[in-house]
Amino acid sequence: MSGLRLAVLASGTGTNLQAILDSVHGREGVELVAVAGDEPEAPALDRARAAGVEVGVFEEGAHADRNARDAAMAQWLAERGVELVVLAGYMRLLSEAFLSRFPNRVINVHPALLPAFRGLDAIQQALDYGVKVFGVTVHFVDQSVDSGPVILQRAIELPDAAEAEAVHDLLRPLEHELLPEAIRLIARGAVSFDEANPRRVVISD
Ligand code: GRF
Repeated sequence: MSGLRLAVLASGTGTNLQAILDSVHGREGVELVAVAGDEPEAPALDRARAAGVEVGVFEEGAHADRNARDAAMAQWLAERGVELVVLAGYMRLLSEAFLSRFPNRVINVHPALLPAFRGLDAIQQALDYGVKVFGVTVHFVDQSVDSGPVILQRAIELPDAAEAEAVHDLLRPLEHELLPEAIRLIARGAVSFDEANPRRVVISD
């Protein structure tokens, strides 16, 4: 199996990044070669540094506009030979300037069962709607918000859920399993698109 050079974009705490560091980095040919973010103080960046992974900070104010920032970040990743970009709590929309450099090579983890509850505060949206089943989606990233083809989903029944942070605590272990699993599947070439319906991601054994 050939190796996969991975990058993570993160803005926050970085527990998903940590799960990648702990369970896929340096195994099965997957190498996390770079972590980039928009928040210089993000704990996620410290986790990367602690693991000896190169860190790049791309703050909005340091570039002419969003496109220029995204183009610089894409260039920095491309120079490091990155083949798959994982959004793990990256809180900004990626522009075409970035996505065109990594076609079908950017994935995201979202704390809801898409296509329900896209965007910010997904768990609170689900609570407000009154759903009884919550979950996590790993999906490809396209130009819209949380709208790309679904790779993996996992659900959990929480009929009495009332508080978003408590639900998030129950969803985190699912995220920490599902995101590394998607990376492993992509690394071994097991993820493709159905030719008849490219929205449909096919996972082979
Ligand atoms: C996760 O809940 C993920 O679903 C969402 O942002 C959060 C990031 O958490 N996109 P962490 O920074 O990985 O702990």
